Amino acid sequence: MNEGKFYLTTPIYYVNALPHIGHAYTTVAADVLARFHRMKNEDVFFLTGLDEHGVKVRKSAEKAGKDPQEFVDELAARYEYIWDRLSISNDDFIRTTSQRHQEGARKLLAKLFEGGFLYEKEYEGLYCVGCEKFLTERDLVEGKCPDHLTKPELISEKNYFFKLGDFLPRVKEKIKSGELEILPIERKNEVLGLFDQGLEDFSASRQGVGWGIKLPFNESQVAYVWVEALMNYLTAIGYGTTESNFNMWWPADLQLIGKDIIKFHAIFWPALLMALDLPLPKKIFAHGFFTVDDQKMSKTLGNVIDPDQMIDEYGADGTRYLILSQFPFGEDGDIKASRFEEQYEADLANDLGNLVSRVLAMTERYFGGKVPGIADLKNGVSLEELIRSGIIGEGQEALWRVEEKLEELKVYWALKEVMKYVSRVNTFIEEAAPWEAAKTDEAKLKQILWQCLVSLKIIAGMLYPFLPNVAAEIASRLGAPEMLSEKIFERKEFDLNLGEQVSKGKSLFPKNNQREEA
Ligand code: MSP
Repeated sequence: MNEGKFYLTTPIYYVNALPHIGHAYTTVAADVLARFHRMKNEDVFFLTGLDEHGVKVRKSAEKAGKDPQEFVDELAARYEYIWDRLSISNDDFIRTTSQRHQEGARKLLAKLFEGGFLYEKEYEGLYCVGCEKFLTERDLVEGKCPDHLTKPELISEKNYFFKLGDFLPRVKEKIKSGELEILPIERKNEVLGLFDQGLEDFSASRQGVGWGIKLPFNESQVAYVWVEALMNYLTAIGYGTTESNFNMWWPADLQLIGKDIIKFHAIFWPALLMALDLPLPKKIFAHGFFTVDDQKMSKTLGNVIDPDQMIDEYGADGTRYLILSQFPFGEDGDIKASRFEEQYEADLANDLGNLVSRVLAMTERYFGGKVPGIADLKNGVSLEELIRSGIIGEGQEALWRVEEKLEELKVYWALKEVMKYVSRVNTFIEEAAPWEAAKTDEAKLKQILWQCLVSLKIIAGMLYPFLPNVAAEIASRLGAPEMLSEKIFERKEFDLNLGEQVSKGKSLFPKNNQREEA
């Protein structure tokens, strides 16, 4: 019996350039949560994908001298390749140029029109292609878009406008009451503040853009890229194409985004859903933004961090670790690539890697790799006492804390809990000094090593959402590869059984000069 469903989405990224670490940040965090919910025995549907229409993408294709479809196809393959290299376990990958998206989006657009929620209006405004949105004079700094440092284009055309105003009081109420949960709380307050600044109806279509989805009721216009992009969350699960699937997954349980796109997701999106007579997502979490070396990441500054290169350097799990461990998830932060190496060595190679290798090496050295059995442990202590009061009991408690933090979407703090326990087991070994027991007291030695091996099992289990490959490797070296399919976050308790034989294996986190070429 599964414990309910969990539909999780990331933003669909603009496919105007290669994926960078900002895209990887949201996607890796979402992957941690997807894996966690699978370990809670929920039916998970984890969606990510690409936003392939609009002026920005079309212009990038022109610049590259390519036909837009050919251009997006090539970049989409790069995205899928990188997600695969990063062990992203998405269940689907939606592209807005796909047939299923276009079909579903056209039905949704028609429904908006038939419902009377779109009206034609002559409009003149300042459009920023980088943002793919109209800016007001108030948004500009010295006549330029503050995010892209470019002058917006003055556009005047006849568009279909969406009657946002009709829905604002209801959207506000749902957010205020928490029926639509916006997290973290500061973001919720920020969104509520936006209602007071005045929000105007927005244009839902564009003229003369060419690269987009034609409106079913007026083929001379295409849907405004943001409107159809938001619809991906519906079309990917079958809106307009496979209704039963759609009904199974909608509404989304969690929509993960960066804070840059909160207005679209927390205000425009619920309003569109209300007009479409569809339920709202349960939760939207907008994480913070990071700078690189204290500056906004940009091609011009040359400080864009490429996940592909990071994976070459640190492997998939090393990269995931470095991405997740920079600053608390939800807050803003800064990333310095110059610190990656040191952190990789300290946290992964030294703390975690050494722990695993020393425990397995001792098991090999003292017992030829054979795991001490529970029967061997009856050395005047009761098993319960050994478990409850010792390092295994602490592991159980760490597991509960990891669960609690992940439940609250505190991905960074959850990972910290895992690493804290790793350090704790290292200290336990120092204190218990199995090498001393090896000289005089075999029963005690077995007891210590057994505890260490169970601790490694606990570590592999709680590490799995974050570093799935390393966790699988630890489980397999413990002779218990099947343990990762245990739904540990549902059961909340560890099965103490271990495999029979361990194997030491190679270094889990090779030092810089020993790393193999990927
Ligand atoms: N295509 C739109 C989203 C449509 S969703 C229906 C878009 N694409 S984007 O390529 O610009 O991606 C923006 C998202 O990338 C952010 O919301 C965030 O998830 C991620 N990030 C990009 N740069 C980032 C940082 N510097 N820091 C944190 N997240 C970053 O907007």
